[in-house]
Formats: sequence, structure tokens, C-alpha cells
Amino acid sequence: MNSLFPTYLRWNIEPEHAKGSWLTSTEGKEYLDFTSGIGVTNLGHCNDQVTEAIQTQLGKFWHTSNMFLIGVQQKAADLLAEAAGLDCVFFSNSGAEANEAAIKLARKATTRNKIVTFHNSFHGRTFATMAATGQDKIKTGYGPMLPTFEYVSFNDSAELLKAVDEDTAAVMLEIVQGEGGIHVAQQEFLNTITEACRAKGALIIVDEVQTGIGRTGKPFAYQHFDFKPDIITSAKGLGNGLPIGAMIGKKELAEYFGPGSHGSTFGGNPLCASAAVAVLQTIMQPGFMEEAAKKGEYLQNALKKVMEDTKMVKDLRTFGLMAGIELNVEAQQALLDLQEQGLLVLTAGPNVLRLLPPLTVEYAEIDTAVEKISKILSESLTVS
Ligand SMILES: Cc1ncc(COP(=O)(O)O)c(C=O)c1O
Repeated sequence: MNSLFPTYLRWNIEPEHAKGSWLTSTEGKEYLDFTSGIGVTNLGHCNDQVTEAIQTQLGKFWHTSNMFLIGVQQKAADLLAEAAGLDCVFFSNSGAEANEAAIKLARKATTRNKIVTFHNSFHGRTFATMAATGQDKIKTGYGPMLPTFEYVSFNDSAELLKAVDEDTAAVMLEIVQGEGGIHVAQQEFLNTITEACRAKGALIIVDEVQTGIGRTGKPFAYQHFDFKPDIITSAKGLGNGLPIGAMIGKKELAEYFGPGSHGSTFGGNPLCASAAVAVLQTIMQPGFMEEAAKKGEYLQNALKKVMEDTKMVKDLRTFGLMAGIELNVEAQQALLDLQEQGLLVLTAGPNVLRLLPPLTVEYAEIDTAVEKISKILSESLTVS
């Protein structure tokens, strides 16, 4: 018997090494990696600056505890707060834990319990974040959920206005629903959230776990819009592969997260924090975000051409370097066919192929990936 719980349907690929946009298996097959470890290795595999930062920290100290003043952690917090346009950072180890912190803080600061979230959302696998998630398949078999979440349809202002009331602690949303199939929030809908939350005294939490750290062509996706969250969460790309998450909030919220109110042994671990510093310094370099945005547009235009040539594509939804290709058939076969062709992609729901290339992807690599997608959509798949 395999000594791992079978929680993942694993691919038949064992990585041997990986660099930049490329991953080589133990069988010596080379794959162009448009998964980035599910939106994590945003600066490419084994990025040189991040490697150097981790190696430097490795030779100093690895872990103390959060009782100490940890310079590298403070630096990561300063850079992150500045990139996010907010003030205070709590470090966690994952996206779900960052969202847990946000949920706890919102409830404590408002002394209210209800959190409004959205159908098709994804916020994590812990008890609170699973309850926050608007997808039944994530919750099946786990008994009663935390009862304080209410779910409304994404981009539906009328439903949202009905749900937000004087008992609402926060509205929590993804700007682009990633796991839910790449659905982008509309400005008008964000305006309604702002109005409703300001009128009823509720906080706005934006889950930027998948959309953050440059993925959409800005440090955080909400920055494309006229929209001001009170709290955002980050993880995935923050450590480029080292496990670190963060909740970033307004300074007015700091008093509710005083000593003893929340914590994490590993949160803000110096090795992970050193990776985050290198990541943030890299993405905030002049021109870096603009280049990532340009590559996103290039990918979008190339994929649009594929749509013209095939009847297999029902819809194309992109935002920066996040792309969802909704097929007329199940996406799983296309994913496996692309693996055969040496391209790694993800799915999001049953029919959507999801592409999350690194922000450092080269234009020629985008061309190669799109050629492979075009090939399998025109040759291998048949409409069922
Ligand atoms: C939007 C969003 N929030 C939260 C999470 C959970 O993050 P983690 O798996 O690091 O707990 C994910 C993971 O896919 C995500 O996409």
C-alpha cells in the first residue's frame, strides 16, 4: 500500500529538476510548466535571486520563534504592506491559514459573526475556510459547517445587497475566482460591495492567495479596480515555493490582534521570509509588473486565435497571466493529451483548462504552449 493518503489524484510524472518555466522528469522528459505549482513559482522554478536569499539565510539561522525581533520577517512585512497599500501583516504558512486569520480578525474587530462569500469561491481546506468556500464538493462528508457564512452569486449586486446587513462582519471575495473557473469581478459589482459594506459597517476581505504577487499584472488584483479592501490575504507566490502566507490589514485593525490573540509557530519563518523579501524586491522592480501584464495580453491574444480555429472552446476568460479555456468537453483528457505533448496545465472545474505560467515566461514559450494547445484541440479531442 502507498504510504500517502490518496487525497490527490496524482499525475504520472516525477520531477527530477526544474528551472525557469521548465521541469524535467526522472524519465528525462522535458515539460513546459504552465502550472507554476498552482500559481506558486511565479518567478520560475529555482529563481536565482530567491535561491541566493534562502542560501544566505540558511547560513545564519533557520528558526527562533516569534518571541524574537526577526529582521528579515520585518523586512518582508514592510515590503508586503507597501505592495498591498495596507499597513500591518500577520504571517502564516499557507493561504487557508491567512484566510483563517482574516476571518478571525473580522469577527473580533466587528463583534459580528456573519461573513458573506460567493458561490464557486475557494478559500481553503481548514474548517473555517472550507465553510467560507462556495462549493459543495469541498465540504461533502465533513458534517456540520461553521454556520456563519452566507453565499451569494458572484457579480450579482442585487443578491449581495440582500445578504449584507447589520450582523455582517465582512464580505470575502476573490477578484478572480481561480479554482472556480477564472471568473473576474466587475467594477460595478465591487462598487456595490463597497457601498453595502460601508453602509452596514462590514469589512471587505479580498482573498489574493492565487491572484496576488503579480499574477494579474499588478502586485494584487484588486489594484486594477477602484476598490479598497480592509484586509487582503496572500500566499502561493509569496515565497516562490517556500511555504508562507500573509494577512495584510489596515492599521485601525491592529488593536484587535494584540499579544496572545492569534499566532503560528512557523508563521514568518526566517527562511520563508527571506524568500518573500527576494520575491517582493523582484516583482516591485521598475518595469517588472508592466512586462508581466504585457505577457498576459500576449497570451490572451494568442489564445483568442486558437478559439477562432476550433469549435472545442466554449469561452475564454483571462486576467493577466491567469487563463481559463472553457471547453465543450471535459478538460481532463485535454490536460493528459497536453502532458503527452510536453505541456503542463491545470483544470478548474470539469470543463476548464487553467493556465498559470510563471511571470518570467518568455514570449517564445507562450508561443510553444499555445501551439500545443491548438494542436490537441484540433486533432485529439472530439466533441462528446
Ligand atoms: C483563492 C484561494 N484561497 C485560498 C487557497 C488555499 O491556499 P492553501 O492551499 O495555501 O491553503 C487557495 C488555493 O488554491 C486559493 O486559490
